[in-house]
Amino acid sequence: MSADPVSPRALRSRAWFDNPDNIDMTALYLERYLNFGLTLEELQSGRPIIGIAQTGSDLSPCNRHHLVLAERVREGIRSAGGIVLEFPVHPIQETGKRPTAGLDRNLSYLGLVELLYGYPLDGVVLTIGCDKTTPACLMAAATVNIPAIALSVGPMLNGWHKGQRTGSGTIVWKARELLAAGEIDNAGFIKLVASSAPSTGYCNTMGTATTMNSLTEALGMSLPGSAAIPAPYRDRQENAYRTGLRIVDMVHEDLKPSDVLTREAFLNAIAVNSAIGGSTNAPIHLNALARHVGVELSIDDWQDKGEHVPLLVNLQPAGEYLGEDYYRAGGVPAVFGQLIEQGLIHEDVKCVSGQTIGEQYRGVQIEDEDVIRPFSRPLVERAGFVVMRGNLFNSAIMKTSVISEAFRERYLSNPDDPDAFEGVAVVFDGPEDYHHRIDDPSVGITANSILFMRGAGPVGYPGAAEVVNMRAPDYLIKQGIHQLPCIGDGRQSGTSGSPSILNASPEAAVGGGLALLKTGDKVRFDLRKSRVDVLVPPSEIVERRKALEAAGGYPYPESQTPWQEIQRAVVGQLETGAVLENAVKYQRIAQT
Ligand code: FES
Ligand code: MG
Repeated sequence: MSADPVSPRALRSRAWFDNPDNIDMTALYLERYLNFGLTLEELQSGRPIIGIAQTGSDLSPCNRHHLVLAERVREGIRSAGGIVLEFPVHPIQETGKRPTAGLDRNLSYLGLVELLYGYPLDGVVLTIGCDKTTPACLMAAATVNIPAIALSVGPMLNGWHKGQRTGSGTIVWKARELLAAGEIDNAGFIKLVASSAPSTGYCNTMGTATTMNSLTEALGMSLPGSAAIPAPYRDRQENAYRTGLRIVDMVHEDLKPSDVLTREAFLNAIAVNSAIGGSTNAPIHLNALARHVGVELSIDDWQDKGEHVPLLVNLQPAGEYLGEDYYRAGGVPAVFGQLIEQGLIHEDVKCVSGQTIGEQYRGVQIEDEDVIRPFSRPLVERAGFVVMRGNLFNSAIMKTSVISEAFRERYLSNPDDPDAFEGVAVVFDGPEDYHHRIDDPSVGITANSILFMRGAGPVGYPGAAEVVNMRAPDYLIKQGIHQLPCIGDGRQSGTSGSPSILNASPEAAVGGGLALLKTGDKVRFDLRKSRVDVLVPPSEIVERRKALEAAGGYPYPESQTPWQEIQRAVVGQLETGAVLENAVKYQRIAQT
């Protein structure tokens, strides 16, 4: 904590509250911020004015506990000599927002950029948690580039049902199978799913929320050891207080997102993502963040720096445990401890704490080696993403760990080539089409089908829907076939374990090759060459392309809201982060 709360340098907030050259505006700004009890001495003290970017609300239940934690953040800021201005951020509720929460990440980003840029803030505490609240906040802080520190709300406590852990999201897939098999009824279905949510906090599985909160710590943007603390624990309140203390010093030190978010920081996060079994949404969000902070990062970096890293964290959906266990076993620090020992981490990256990654994490031990495995005894050897290419898309990502024995048996095309697989395409146009037809036997889905979902990308289903995790039809589940491979131009929930190739770019709606695919086409996977191709002659592809263009391109539904239309006009593809392309040029825009 700073001995002298008055900053050694002129703070940005002085341009509002203490500007002798523009006394008219200073008076106007002051009189209104005084009207709820702040004093002139505080506003003109030269002390940092710290925002709390509040993402918690009744509409955002995963982050709602931030309304409570903010009290401890305030005490931390006050204790360190800062002045607090708390304000709401556009809420994003991953599972409740229609048509998809993916639509709102960039909207929340835009709103927060305006707030951080346009108001008298010297630094900000970003309250992160539910999937897209984290990238939205980090992206905005990166664009504006004022000192910023993230505070995770933390995961829910573990869910339990009949002595078994029930994990957020993951239990839905399981319950759906039990329902299809007639083992539970609708009421039992809801009861089983609800058991996974015993407390305040975000999803307790290694879904996108736990992934993004872990990667925020891995990037150096939150205090060490903070990501995994469950929301209701007292440690979370302490962490909120310390985060409040620290942001004030960060303002004195002028430690900004651009000082932390270097290329090396992103490469560290990619390695950590493989080791934790992170969500396939991570490349989208981190690539977006990199673009807003002006760091070179490509989809190929995910394979180059992540594919060979083993899975160490034994959390659902890939493993068996949940958030409380992850924290008890040591969380992100224990994972870093293993990766640093193997030389897989850039240790000199600076963190918001003021320390480097190496100073924070070198030598940290695992507390429970069943929950976080040592490097010598991983759950999966090569756990990162493989970037697939072919005549259906320029890039898509696959978790190699999803290639199961059952998959090998059902799709192997040639016994002499263990890396080549073939199946027959069944094509769905968007999630509604899938829901209507998945159980219809006349669609002809068999144990050799590959399910395709198109029209689910950033333009086709504005924001990109989390719908590529398609289940097998009920009649196949009854025969014991629970999963079929899925490929699509949309996203997949991080809580799903289904074998999928996701984030195919470019999407069908902007003319990507998936738009040319037909049900019944043979499709070949070659894992050795990292390719997926539809096996139709090139001349036939040319013909289909002509027909598509003559029909005016791949059809997708009209926009339902103004924002859908605005975003569709300027959004990029998932491969490059699905950012608002014309926002990228605005970098480091804060004026001091
Ligand atoms: Fe919000 Fe999972 S739905 S964290
Ligand atoms: Mg999700």
